[in-house]
Amino acid sequence: MKMKVLGISCSPRRGQTTDRLVQEVLNGVDGSTEFVSLNGLRIGPCLGCLGCVADNVCKVQDDMSALRSKIVEADALVVGAPNYFDMINGLAHCFLERLYQFRHQEGDILHSKLGVAVGVGGGKPDSAVRDIEKFFTFSQIESVGSVTAQGPACCFNCGCGEDCKVGAIHMFFGPGTKITDELIPDLSKQPEKLVAARELGQKLSQRLTED
Ligand SMILES: Cc1cc2nc3c(=O)[nH]c(=O)nc-3n(C[C@H](O)[C@H](O)[C@H](O)COP(=O)(O)O)c2cc1C
Repeated sequence: MKMKVLGISCSPRRGQTTDRLVQEVLNGVDGSTEFVSLNGLRIGPCLGCLGCVADNVCKVQDDMSALRSKIVEADALVVGAPNYFDMINGLAHCFLERLYQFRHQEGDILHSKLGVAVGVGGGKPDSAVRDIEKFFTFSQIESVGSVTAQGPACCFNCGCGEDCKVGAIHMFFGPGTKITDELIPDLSKQPEKLVAARELGQKLSQRLTED
């Protein structure tokens, strides 16, 4: 059976943890894959205009139109997002809200698709998985699993991290902490997460072969 898995990273930071972890899931897939970064794309929120009711096609003119075709053609979606303020980031929320277009008149375009949620956070990557899976449930996308990893909070790189009293460095490690390469979280230091991501990709392939 031919299969197509679409990976979508909702991080605005290209090549960072979310992109890499989504790509690692795709690396485990035995089949055709495509990776899309939302970095640089213009995808606004659902406007609630109900323009999609008659035909399940959103009428808002932005980059979601091109992405819609890819979603329709895919057998499975791997959606990754970073945790911003203990929830998925705004870009992810806008993208996932726009799945509303598929729901009308018992629309079943998404119903047979499988999903994998990828969550990244400086401290709590699980929050992103929680939110992505809620959208999967609303869209009747069947979740086959999730993977999370720790990414570097911006305080490691902003230049003020060692001194800022309200930043992540003071909060997690205490005042006086020096920022060293060893201290900065990176996916390469979490090999078990890379293994888990590839295994999820394999699981997706197996499920798609069975179905
Ligand atoms: C505006 C903003 C808010 C954030 N809030 C949280 C948070 O509440 N909890 C958390 O665990 N990480 C938080 N982070 C850290 C990010 O999740 C972390 O930097 C992650 O690596 C970003 O993913 P990326 O590397 O793929 O861009 C926040 C980052 C930003 C920019």
